[in-house]
Amino acid sequence: MTMMLEKEATDDLIERGYSRRQIGEIAAMLGAGVAATTMLTNPALAQQQAARGIKGAVRIGSNECWTGPFPSGVQAIQAAASVGNWYDPDTYRADLTKTVSDVEGIPETHIQLWPGSGGPLVSIVAAYCSPTKGLVTADPTFESAWRSADFMKAPIAKVPQPIGKGHDVKGMLAANPNAGLYYICTPNNPTGTITPIEDIKWLLDNKPAGSMLLVDEAYLHFSEAPSAASLIGARKDIIVMRTCSKLFGMAGIRLGLTFADPEVQKQIMLFGPSAGGLSITAMACGNAVFKEAALIKARRAEMVAARDETIAWLTKKGIEVQPGSQANMFMVNWKKPAKDMQAALLATPEKVQIGRSWAIWPNISRVTVGSAEDMKKFCAAVDRVYKA
Ligand SMILES: Cc1ncc(COP(=O)(O)O)c(C=O)c1O
Repeated sequence: MTMMLEKEATDDLIERGYSRRQIGEIAAMLGAGVAATTMLTNPALAQQQAARGIKGAVRIGSNECWTGPFPSGVQAIQAAASVGNWYDPDTYRADLTKTVSDVEGIPETHIQLWPGSGGPLVSIVAAYCSPTKGLVTADPTFESAWRSADFMKAPIAKVPQPIGKGHDVKGMLAANPNAGLYYICTPNNPTGTITPIEDIKWLLDNKPAGSMLLVDEAYLHFSEAPSAASLIGARKDIIVMRTCSKLFGMAGIRLGLTFADPEVQKQIMLFGPSAGGLSITAMACGNAVFKEAALIKARRAEMVAARDETIAWLTKKGIEVQPGSQANMFMVNWKKPAKDMQAALLATPEKVQIGRSWAIWPNISRVTVGSAEDMKKFCAAVDRVYKA
């Protein structure tokens, strides 16, 4: 599906040096969204990713939550579904925006809702990158931004991710002191490590005028790190992005958020997937779960216990786990091709589907933290493979 770009968006792209033909391709990328961006740029990878959830497997490969939304969220979905015959039966959007504003301490004008965060992530790259305005990211990190930048023919600087730490923000600025977009993923997918708020502030204060800083906080609720939302204030050069796909267990329900100055939100929307395409069930669920501070804390503690126990078991077995994860994933160094280990674990009677590896670290797999029971099966499968 190709997205129809507004004249304003087309003019903006012409000004950035794109031809009519390229603009057509960019519209296709935006219409297709993140999954299909992969399809357009790397069909083999898209096929590999399509095998995301294998039915009947212990699914600890895609950083999903091991359980669904909190009960209040499920109840809210049921109530919303029963009035789903109306296009706009109630004040779902306004209610959710107010809740997020109260919980996060940011003005309602600075909050935009999306059907997931993958779409706006592609749009942000389209809005701020060009052949002369590159993207700077860590490596490994969530690759959607760099795949989109690749599509935009924007130069991409990938700065090696220090093991056990946050992004090397000084290295990121040095890698391209004149970039259009700096992408920080904290906690980082796949390492789970946090980029300290002081480092984010440093990059914000030192990056070139006219550039944008995107802080992707998809996994923030799994950690106790402070949000960069506090930095938004009067600034027009930072976007904080969230999703309800992770701790809130709403990956299939689809709800994402961007926090930024209203003018910036407008620029994202110009290149955006339809922000209006949100289901009332997603908004009702989000409104219920965002307020559940005690349950958020309890779910985080449950994940931390399962993660720490699994890492302790692996370490005792002499298997190297990278330190420093503060999210629902950790990196295991098998010291042999991670792809082979991934296949071997899936072939065990436990049928465990772990995550993939990144080209920069081919012997290292990302393992998502599932339920305590999932993690026991993971350990049993690892034991079996090692004994064999
Ligand atoms: C770091 C990061 N950002 C964004 C996303 C997009 O998630 P969603 O589109 O479900 O909000 C993901 C998904 O895995 C992610 O890991």
